[in-house]
Amino acid sequence: MIQRTVSVLGSTGSVGCSTLDLMDQAEIAGTGAFQVEVLTGGGNVARLAEQVRRWRPKLAIIADPSRLADLRDALAGTGVETAAGDQAIVDAATRPVDLVMASIVGAAGLRSTWAAAGTGATLALANKESLVCCGPRLIERVKANGGGLIPVDSEHSAIFQVFPAEAPEQVSRLILTASGGPFRRTSLAEMGRMTPEQAVAHPNWSMGAKISVDSATMANKGLETIEAAYLFDMPADRVDVVVHPESVIHSMVEYVDGSTLAQMGPPDMKTPIACALAWPDRLSWPAPRLDLAALGRLTFEAPDEARFPALKLAREALKAGGAAPTVFNAANEVAALAFLDRRLGFLNIAAVIAETLERATNAGVDSGFDDACSSALAVDAQARRMAETIVAGLAIAA
Ligand SMILES: NC(=O)c1ccc[n+]([C@@H]2O[C@H](COP(=O)([O-])OP(=O)(O)OC[C@H]3O[C@@H](n4cnc5c(N)ncnc54)[C@H](OP(=O)(O)O)[C@@H]3O)[C@@H](O)[C@H]2O)c1
Repeated sequence: MIQRTVSVLGSTGSVGCSTLDLMDQAEIAGTGAFQVEVLTGGGNVARLAEQVRRWRPKLAIIADPSRLADLRDALAGTGVETAAGDQAIVDAATRPVDLVMASIVGAAGLRSTWAAAGTGATLALANKESLVCCGPRLIERVKANGGGLIPVDSEHSAIFQVFPAEAPEQVSRLILTASGGPFRRTSLAEMGRMTPEQAVAHPNWSMGAKISVDSATMANKGLETIEAAYLFDMPADRVDVVVHPESVIHSMVEYVDGSTLAQMGPPDMKTPIACALAWPDRLSWPAPRLDLAALGRLTFEAPDEARFPALKLAREALKAGGAAPTVFNAANEVAALAFLDRRLGFLNIAAVIAETLERATNAGVDSGFDDACSSALAVDAQARRMAETIVAGLAIAA
């Protein structure tokens, strides 16, 4: 029986809901027992209140302060403490628990993830943006405080499960798989006309809106390339990407002797989440199973960097180092949200990233802070302003 005290930051999102569903299924199956300390939402009071009534956490937080009164009304009589605002989430992330699920989307999750990394808890890291922005210093912070870091991204969970942590010198290469997203077969000309609805309609994975757009541009695979390089201490030229439309092999580790180990499973985020919740044990839950005979065959192809330039831009940012990965992340976030708001065309997402990276390099964007989180936040703010200006210019030109 897996027993854990857990805080779920971003519990109302796709990963957050899957985490709670999985915990529920494990409790029903009698294989898990979870006590919830903190649940947080951004603005979705109805969903947060429903989760609070099921899990009875000690504290429920809504990031948007204007929704606190609604949350209090919805939870009247439950006795559950409530709070609102970013700082409340950061403070709550330091409460002692066995495991913190960091599943807020984007740079908004940076400060709470950093705070959780300083507690000695196991950090289940879905919020890849915080690792991209804080870099290896996030990992160092977890280790220095006696905690563990378990990646939740399916690709990194796959690598984590087949990576020889005690003998990393045995590894020659990491191979990240990519579904190719909804526009894998779409021509450049057609891509220019794609709408937010088409971009978020992922063929294999059910995810939040921002990561779905990232998947359509392959900026997501770019962020994951940076994430993998940091997590497994690999140089950029030893992290490869292969398009695998069936999303059955979740990633691979190639060893120096030519052997390659892969982790496989149906494309369901609950499997890597289960891995993070139970590691080093395994959580038994009614998981979907692979039926390889029914699948018949698995296919692979090289990524097309001409149609998906965000992937190349991320790799260049990783190689450039310094502030570049944070700039990449900020520009991508601004551009993806502008696309979702219909203020920017799909193909201009990569154009905004490229232009922001160039302007930030020329302006010498950097920060003088000692701690990686403050530095990342300072760079993020500068890069966002640049990206917003570029988005506005492109919207006027269109
Ligand atoms: N979804 C996946 O399958 C998947 C797979 C791998 C990695 N990830 C990563 O996991 C993270 C979460 O992704 P997701 O797909 O679950 O996103 P999502 O469905 O959009 O959920 C995001 C969560 O963050 C909250 N949030 C949004 N803005 C916030 C803010 N300013 N302050 C505090 N909380 C805020 C949302 O609250 P409200 O909804 O209440 O506003 C929600 O709880 C991302 O970093 C993503 O890259 C996701």
